[in-house]
Amino acid sequence: MDIQNPNGIFHWDLTGKTHPCIPWSREAIFPLFMAKLKTKIVFLCSSCGDDFPKWNGQCPSCKEWGTLSEFKASSKKSKGKTEIRDSKFLPDVLSGAPVERISTGIREADRVLGGGFLSGALILLGGSPGVGKSTLALHICSGIDRKVLYISAEESEEQVALRARRLKINSKYLHLSGENEVEGIITHIERISPELVVVDSIQTVMNTGLDSLPGSPSQIRDCGQRLLEVSKQRNVTILIVGHVTKDGTIAGPKMLEHMVDTVLYMDGDDRYDHRILRSAKNRFGATHEVGIFNMDSEGLKEVTNPSEMFLAERSINIPGTSVYPSLEGTRPILVEVQVLVSDANFGTPQRNLNGFDYKRLGMLIAVLEKRIGLAMGTKDVFVNLVGGLRVNDPAADLSIICSTASSTMDNPIEENTVLLGEVGLAGEVRSISRLEHRLTEAKTLGFKTAIVPAASMNDKVKKIEIDLHPVKFVKDAFKILF
Ligand code: TYD
Ligand code: MG
Repeated sequence: MDIQNPNGIFHWDLTGKTHPCIPWSREAIFPLFMAKLKTKIVFLCSSCGDDFPKWNGQCPSCKEWGTLSEFKASSKKSKGKTEIRDSKFLPDVLSGAPVERISTGIREADRVLGGGFLSGALILLGGSPGVGKSTLALHICSGIDRKVLYISAEESEEQVALRARRLKINSKYLHLSGENEVEGIITHIERISPELVVVDSIQTVMNTGLDSLPGSPSQIRDCGQRLLEVSKQRNVTILIVGHVTKDGTIAGPKMLEHMVDTVLYMDGDDRYDHRILRSAKNRFGATHEVGIFNMDSEGLKEVTNPSEMFLAERSINIPGTSVYPSLEGTRPILVEVQVLVSDANFGTPQRNLNGFDYKRLGMLIAVLEKRIGLAMGTKDVFVNLVGGLRVNDPAADLSIICSTASSTMDNPIEENTVLLGEVGLAGEVRSISRLEHRLTEAKTLGFKTAIVPAASMNDKVKKIEIDLHPVKFVKDAFKILF
């Protein structure tokens, strides 16, 4: 590198030694470099965590708008050691012992994880504040009969101990620590050598080497990266807890999703006691499995029969309601669908949905108008999937369209009937997945009749003792129902 000085050009050797013919010492010039390095300014995206030298309205990586903010990067490096991992030959890895899965001791959590934790996995447990993440993490710690380290960066050890007493947890394998410095956490991991570490929460953990506050995108990204390194180097499972706000405005753990092996989200509505644990990403198992819990004064309890819970307060013989066996992962859950259709008071009719896709409803209303001839243009439509469940399954179409028609015509659907089928633009009822499983669940809960897509009929389905009505078009279903 050439450096201009008043006496002419001379060469700077990056090893730090000055050239013999040059009068300037290394001590005189080195601070200049350091000062330049220390004030590096980058723009960090709070959504994906990528950084850029210039500000942009839209993040060039993830295309989110308004997520870039200025951040002064520190040149100080964290003092983590850089161990080089050995490379491995695939046949040797395959012939070795299979990676062990550690059961959490909670069946619903194991189901979502695909059978338990894998050693060396990094797992993110996200959810809005107060949903019950810390409670679930503590239950998991007590369910595992191995050495566990619970880092409660949010609460003191005493507060966690109080909670543990309330949840009747007394695990002899559980170590508590209120450490919130990432290097301190790593030291604890090295000292205690646990098999599972819970970091609650990533928003309160910080690297003091960075110039930003805990919870900022740079801190979250850096601490996440350090924990990732430790989990892979030491083969320890790390469960990171992270808050997300409902509107997603603050830097949440979104950017961590790319780093971790598994992403679990805990969902729940303040109005209900049940909590749903979903897997949004899983490198070692199936996604879209759900675990269902009930929150009471003694913590989270597993719900073994969710269909009964969701149908507990079912409205019977009311126009606009019907039951549909949904599928969450591999598990059928019966859901009550409620639709209310009323005359619109204002020019543009409202479409208000809870748990169902807005565009899909628009399509179903268009099918009702065009193929069945029901005028919906001046009607408000309200859709609610009872119990706060969110459904992203085309098999719900028939139930939604029939409930909408039922409410419009003020004609109730028979209470012991379940409806299943995807609806196409021609008004046809299309085949769906796992019909047999869904119908078996309906039968177990005492349903007598099922309206199903004709194309999904097979021998296994026919054997189920339920009165089956295969239909090809929505209008055929209407003939049976109304
Ligand atoms: P918590 O696990 O602290 O939530 P998070 O870590 O996601 O912020 O749970 C907080 C809520 O759970 C709080 O509103 C009280 C409720 N709760 C119970 O109803 N019963 C219990 O036994 C516990 C521990 C919490
Ligand atoms: Mg908490």
